[in-house]
Amino acid sequence: MKVGISTKRLEDVAADALVVGLYVGETKLPERLARLDRAAQGQLKRVLDAEKFQGKSGQVTHAHADGRRIVVAGLGPRAETTSEVLRRAAAAGVRRARDLGARTVAVEVLGDRLTARQRAQAVVEGAILGTYSFDRYKREKPDKTVSELHVVEPDARRAREARDGMHRGEAFALATSFARDLINAPANELHPTDLARAATELANGSRLGVKVFERAECQEMGMGAFLGVAAGSEQPPKFIHLIYSPAGRPPAGRKRKKVVLIGKGITFDSGGLDLKPPEGMLRMKYDMAGAAAVLGIMRALPALKPPIEVHGLIAATENMPSGSAIRPGDVLRAMNGTTIEIGNTDAEGRLTLADGLCFANTHVQPDEIIDMATLTGACVVALGQLCSGLMANNQALANRLMKAADAAGERLWQLPLIDEYREHLKSEVADLNNVGPRGGGAITAGLFLKEFAGKTPWAHLDIAGPAFTEKDLPLAPKGATGFAVRTVLTYLGE
Ligand code: BES
Ligand code: ZN
Ligand code: ZN
Repeated sequence: MKVGISTKRLEDVAADALVVGLYVGETKLPERLARLDRAAQGQLKRVLDAEKFQGKSGQVTHAHADGRRIVVAGLGPRAETTSEVLRRAAAAGVRRARDLGARTVAVEVLGDRLTARQRAQAVVEGAILGTYSFDRYKREKPDKTVSELHVVEPDARRAREARDGMHRGEAFALATSFARDLINAPANELHPTDLARAATELANGSRLGVKVFERAECQEMGMGAFLGVAAGSEQPPKFIHLIYSPAGRPPAGRKRKKVVLIGKGITFDSGGLDLKPPEGMLRMKYDMAGAAAVLGIMRALPALKPPIEVHGLIAATENMPSGSAIRPGDVLRAMNGTTIEIGNTDAEGRLTLADGLCFANTHVQPDEIIDMATLTGACVVALGQLCSGLMANNQALANRLMKAADAAGERLWQLPLIDEYREHLKSEVADLNNVGPRGGGAITAGLFLKEFAGKTPWAHLDIAGPAFTEKDLPLAPKGATGFAVRTVLTYLGE
């Protein structure tokens, strides 16, 4: 979808469809809509009246006026317009325009409480994410697609600001779609090697550095926890390290901030010898959603140019049962020397992340670490499908992430890392066990990771719930959502 800013009056923009907003309580049509209504011989007003259109957020309807579609999207109460209201209105409106056969769509940008930059960003994010579809494996491709989007900011003095917001929105949405494509790809077509190739291709096409460590190199570095998980798979594991460094030097006397992002990259989680039951295994191609989020984020950074150094780390492998797989009761040794007894081979994510955290602390030594992982079913039980768990050893970092999530329209809820629960991870034979009791499973997993984060400020996003959706959402059809990409991009861009 090509996007551009237009400062013409809405009705003067050449497009197959116009998407306009209506607030709750605008019973008398505002002048801009009244003009369109006159062009439509009063048909717009008649449709709105007949359908008792109230302008509620999420509501959408349409009329036809001399060959053009006029789509009306509800914006809720005028005093309460948030970026998320605009995203959802743009998504529903552009989706309707597309379904009506429009190829070029103009969207009116409203929202009193938002800056022109925020408004344009939200509209572009909504338009692109709301029309995302994954049809790589379908013989019949959808014939209806929107190829051009005009973001209409009628205040010409705000055009620069709006253009800036538009570019941000496009970068955020394309990064999210990129992650969705990787996550939606089936596990037989997306092995660790393919994740490594995706990372290498990203780096070759832009200003990112990349290094992929093979099994032997990981062995030399002592990544026994990661390689233990990989032991049962015929697919070679890959440890991926991407680097974004901003152009130029930091201001004199100032050190540049360094952030590490770690994504859980289990391309398929069968559970290992502690095999999952069929219902539990069905969706496990999604178990690399954290890794895909990291790749999406890294992909957007060269365009967004934040003044910080960002490292993306992915310990990519499958978790499979076989004669070479790790067994319950085995003991693994992580890169920092910590020994781990395997209580359950299905708690594999934390093992791969443990070596990722060790690598970050020894080889990158960042100012902070954020990991993203579809880590526990327990977190889905606790918070459901629309909310990610947040755990951190540093409250300031947690607070900043919650603020970023709020702006991005993604939900994070902090869970406490209760010290007393550490005893749940005690082992008779090793320094740690990789599982605890059922209760508080998301927290025990967080406490396990905390052991490897050390003193570095660290935050953990358990995205097992929101990483994919079983039903269509306002900004995502069934399947992968690309959750965490926009939150973390917002965070890095502050
Ligand atoms: N990948 C799963 C977690 C998961 C579950 C993600 C449901 C998405 C939806 C993870 O590797 C896992 O299997 N965790 C176990 C841990 C348990 C053995 C302590 C779980 O949550 O059951
Ligand atoms: Zn598992
Ligand atoms: Zn897993």
